[in-house]
Amino acid sequence: MSTRESPDRDVQSDSRLTDRHVVVTGAAQGIGRGIAVRCARAGADVSVFDVDTETAAETASLVRETGSEAIVVEVDVADGDSVDDGVETAVDELGPVHGVVNNAGVQRSVPLLETTEAEWDRHFAVNAKGPFLVSKRVATQMIDDGIEGSIVNVSSVGAERPFRGQGAYGASKASVLALTTVLAKELSDHGITANAIKPGTVRTPMVDEWLEERAEQQDTTPEEVLSDSLDTHILDRAAQPVEIGHMVVLLLSAEGEWITGESIAVDGGYLKA
Ligand SMILES: NC(=O)c1ccc[n+]([C@@H]2O[C@H](COP(=O)([O-])OP(=O)(O)OC[C@H]3O[C@@H](n4cnc5c(N)ncnc54)[C@H](O)[C@@H]3O)[C@@H](O)[C@H]2O)c1
Repeated sequence: MSTRESPDRDVQSDSRLTDRHVVVTGAAQGIGRGIAVRCARAGADVSVFDVDTETAAETASLVRETGSEAIVVEVDVADGDSVDDGVETAVDELGPVHGVVNNAGVQRSVPLLETTEAEWDRHFAVNAKGPFLVSKRVATQMIDDGIEGSIVNVSSVGAERPFRGQGAYGASKASVLALTTVLAKELSDHGITANAIKPGTVRTPMVDEWLEERAEQQDTTPEEVLSDSLDTHILDRAAQPVEIGHMVVLLLSAEGEWITGESIAVDGGYLKA
């Protein structure tokens, strides 16, 4: 077991995102909440986009506790009108957007031969079309406002090394990597960068549901599934959401200005194990 078990211990705050406005989708809980609060600790004001506004309000409170501003915006990233309205509200309330994190996602663990067309389409609507719609709207806004901003897409190690049952999920996350490359190329003339992060196992409500589903399919317990899953990471522990937030802050800050078109694994070594 690694001794580096308290990832939050050294990093409480910094000023790398002072005076910036960051939009985080799917920020009501899990990784999105961790990213939102970590960005706020770096000085950013945060627009919390989610379909679940009640839970999103808790994230907004945590952001405000850092001294930053936060608003909750009800947005379904799979719906273009909802995205357009949401970005308009965010700009009206907190000013020009400097960074956007496409984090909202869904996952079901279903063998491909049992995956319905509706399940396949849902994964692609939220996980693939969502980042396209949000990036298109925010990048257009950045160009209009003369902002040289950054886009971060949360893909997954499942884009490259999916588990059984991650057919629709892995395929939708792989498409995010191609989207990121093209965004980086097409937006470079406007000074906008685009990168993807591939998290390994992070303890969130999504992973807890995945553990339950896999356990039922394998006739075992969620604890066993988690233990097997962590055996496939070089660092044999799950991450905390803030550890994805650390990489997001780097990519959104001046320190990340020369990084674009990249997909970065933040995965405890899963893709190399
Ligand atoms: N947890 C992990 O181990 C892990 C690993 C790799 C990648 N990821 C990715 O990280 C992201 C966050 O995952 P998580 O584990 O925190 O998930 P989660 O289910 O805990 O949280 C996802 C959030 O997205 C929101 N959301 C879902 N559909 C939406 C929509 N259509 N519009 C707006 N918001 C929507 C949910 O309400 C929720 O708040 C996802 O894209 C996921 O695929 C997670």
